[in-house]
Amino acid sequence: MKSSEIKDYSPSELSQFFADVYSKQKTQKEKREIGQFFTPDNISDFMGSLSTTQKECVKILDPGCGTLNLSCALIDHLVKNQKTKSIQLDIYETDNNLKQYIEDITKTLSEYLSSKNIAFNYTIYFEDFVLKNANVLNSNSELKYDIIISNPPYFKLAKTDERALATDIINGGQPNIYSLFMAISSRLLNDDGEMIFITPRSFTSGLYFKKFREFFLDNVNLHSLHLFVNRNDTFKKDKVLQELLITKAVKHKVDQIVITSSDSDLNIYSNKNYQYNEVYNVESENKFVFIPINENEDKILKIVNQWDKKLEDFDITISTGPVVDFRTKENIVLEAKIDENIKPYYRLNNVTQMELNWPLQDLNKEQFIIQNDATKSILRPSSNYIFLRRQSAKGDKHRLICTPYFKEDNIDYIGIDNKLNYIYSKKRELTKEEVYGISALLNSTFMNQYFQTFNGNVNVSSTEIKQLKFPDYQFIIHIGEKVINNQKLSFEEINQYILQKLNYEQN
Ligand SMILES: C[S@@+](CC[C@H](N)C(=O)[O-])C[C@H]1O[C@@H](n2cnc3c(N)ncnc32)[C@H](O)[C@@H]1O
Repeated sequence: MKSSEIKDYSPSELSQFFADVYSKQKTQKEKREIGQFFTPDNISDFMGSLSTTQKECVKILDPGCGTLNLSCALIDHLVKNQKTKSIQLDIYETDNNLKQYIEDITKTLSEYLSSKNIAFNYTIYFEDFVLKNANVLNSNSELKYDIIISNPPYFKLAKTDERALATDIINGGQPNIYSLFMAISSRLLNDDGEMIFITPRSFTSGLYFKKFREFFLDNVNLHSLHLFVNRNDTFKKDKVLQELLITKAVKHKVDQIVITSSDSDLNIYSNKNYQYNEVYNVESENKFVFIPINENEDKILKIVNQWDKKLEDFDITISTGPVVDFRTKENIVLEAKIDENIKPYYRLNNVTQMELNWPLQDLNKEQFIIQNDATKSILRPSSNYIFLRRQSAKGDKHRLICTPYFKEDNIDYIGIDNKLNYIYSKKRELTKEEVYGISALLNSTFMNQYFQTFNGNVNVSSTEIKQLKFPDYQFIIHIGEKVINNQKLSFEEINQYILQKLNYEQN
C-alpha cells in the first residue's frame, strides 16, 4: 500500500486491513507454529470497551501485538471516553515480517492521536515477551501498566523450551505459552490497573494449569469473564479449535464477578453477577474457576455447593485404562473367541450411556487381548467397574458417558483401553448398587452440565472426576437400587428421577 493510501484509513481500519492481508499470506501450519491468529474487529472492539479506566495518562502494554488491532480498538475506546490526555504504548512482537505493518500503524496512530490532542509515545520491542520479562515472576518490576490488553499466542511448549525453563515456578508439566503471557502480565499491572485477555478457557480447570492458576489468582482478581459458547467458530477464518474466554482481571479486591456469554457475533446469551467465591474458591484443592453461563448451570452450582463428598470418601477411585493399542499391537486380536489366553478387551466404542456393547460386530478394531508375559501388567482382574469414556465426540451434548461393568465367572482378567477411564475400589469390590448408582449419576444431564461449568473441552480426565463433588452415599445407593429394581425403565426415565430427587428443574 502506498503511503498516500494509508492516510485514508483510521488506525483500527488499517490494522484490520493489514491483519487480513498478512494472514492470507500464511498457511494454517505457519500460523499454528507461532500462535498467530488475529482478533476479529468486533471482538477487538468489545475487548477495548471492557476498560473502565478514567486516568488521564494511560500506560498500555500489548504483548504479542500482531497488527495492533487490540491496541487500536482500546485507543478508540479511550478517545471516545474523552478522559485520556496522554498514552504510552509498549508492544511486543517476535514475527519480524510484521515490522513494516507495525511501523505504519504506529505512525498512523501518532497522527490520529495528535489530531485529537492526545500525547502519544510508543516503544516497539521486537523481542520475545516471555524471555524479556520472566524475571518479574519472582521480583518486582519498576515498570507497571494501567491496561494490558492481549490475544497472546496459544501453543504448548516443550518442558525444555527456554521460555518454559525461564518460567519454571508457574509450570506444572508442559505449559501453554498463553499462560506465561498472563502470569507475567499479572505482575506488570499497576494497583489500579486492568488486564484484558482473550485465551482458550483451558486455564480455568486444566490440571497442568493448577500452579499457574494459584500464581495468577494470587496476583490479580477476576473482574469479568466472557465465554464464547458456539464452539469453534470464534476465529472462523483461522479455524481455531478451542473454546475461547475473555478475562478481565484487576489488582483490587472484587466481590462480584460478571459472567457473560455470546456467540462469535457477540449476540449476548447470558449476563449475570456471581459472588466471587461461587466462581473461584481460594480454599478449594484444585482451584478451578467455574463459569456458569445459563440459569440451569446456575441452579446446578447452587445444589453442588451443598455437596461435600468426592469419590475418595467412598473408598472409590478412578484410573485410566492401561492398554495402549499401538504399543501392544501383537497382543490384541480381532477374532471373537475367548479361551484360556484370550480375554475381552474393552474400548471406547463399546461404551454407551449405561450400556456395554461388546463385542461389536461391525467395529473393525481388535476387541480381544492375549494374556501372556507381555500383557500381564496391563490386564485388570475382572471385577465390578464403571467404564467412562475419556473423550466425547465434538458437538455431543454429553461429556460424561459411562456404563456399568460386572465381573463374569468365566473371565478372570480383562483389557481396558486407554481411551477409557475405569472407576473401582482399591480396597474392595464395588457393590451393584454403587456401580449402577454412580453410572446413572455420571450419565445424568445434571452431572454433565455440572462438569461443563468447569471443563470446556471434549476430554474427561481421571483427575477431574476425582475432583467432582458427589451427593451423599445414601443418595447414590438409592439411585442404584432404583435402577436395579426397575430394569425396564429407560435411561431417560432414570435421568428424570435423578433430576426430581435433586430438586433440579431444568429450564
Ligand atoms: C494470537 S496472535 C494475536 C495478534 C494480535 N494481538 C491480535 O489480537 O490480532 C499472537 C501474536 O503474538 C506473537 N508472538 C508469538 N510468540 C511471541 C513471543 N514470545 N513474544 C512476543 N510475541 C509473540 C505472534 O507472532 C502473533 O503475532
